Amino acid sequence: MSSPDSTAEAAAMSETAPATVLVFDSGLGGLTVFREIAAVRPDARFVYLADDAGFPYGNLPEPALIARVRDVLGAAISAHAPDLVVVACNTASTLALTDLRARFTVPFVGTVPAIKPACARSVSKRIAVLGTQATVSREYTRALIREFATGCDVVLVGSPRLAGYAEAELAGHPVSDADIGAEIAACFVDADGRRTDTVVLACTHYPLLVERFRATAPWPVDWLDPAPAIARRVAALLQDRAAAANAPPPQIAFTSGQAPSPALAKALQAFGFYPAA
Ligand code: DGL
Repeated sequence: MSSPDSTAEAAAMSETAPATVLVFDSGLGGLTVFREIAAVRPDARFVYLADDAGFPYGNLPEPALIARVRDVLGAAISAHAPDLVVVACNTASTLALTDLRARFTVPFVGTVPAIKPACARSVSKRIAVLGTQATVSREYTRALIREFATGCDVVLVGSPRLAGYAEAELAGHPVSDADIGAEIAACFVDADGRRTDTVVLACTHYPLLVERFRATAPWPVDWLDPAPAIARRVAALLQDRAAAANAPPPQIAFTSGQAPSPALAKALQAFGFYPAA
């Protein structure tokens, strides 16, 4: 027979269901955000959704991207009933967040270029924003610069290839230093006696390549990854949810329906995912 205390404890435990967090990206870049969130709320139930059938988002026309994100996320919200959705993609967040918040009642956390902290942190007051061509050309990004970059020189660098390179590396197909160096070269400005000292990683795929960036950069800079700040925001939104006792293993799904290659499956294991082969 159980004591009153242990009965009360058991009842409380069964009531503390894990919060469900849906993390979404066009591909695997959002894993760089997922790993930070999982570190601060390891008790949550995570569903990671990669819209690989739509990758790369940087190449999609804006109306098509808004409609696609709405449809893919709408289906995922119905299927998983998340408590919170993290749009772990700058290309989607800088365009579709307003529409998503108007359509769905679940709270959204977006990922947008970290221009404000970069300008605050920069000593030379010369920064670069490295993102997809779509993200750096968005009005949302320009507005962040107008609002938060006063007194700081900002160069916008749109890369058509880096997100694909990050996917290739994860799938076991390394990219050369020369190819990586060519994509980041425009970030490095040396003018008026001031050099770029901070580069905003404005695409969630890029932290996957940051060691390659460090190795190919013409001089050392601070590579600003916004993922820890996003994780803090998620933790704040979930602070009223008590830690659940038994978090299920994180799930990963691909809109293509394709099973990952053996090399990719191995890379995913490093993030805690064991997708069905
Ligand atoms: N990971 C995405 C981002 O943060 C973009 C990659 C793409 O699909 O073009 O912008």
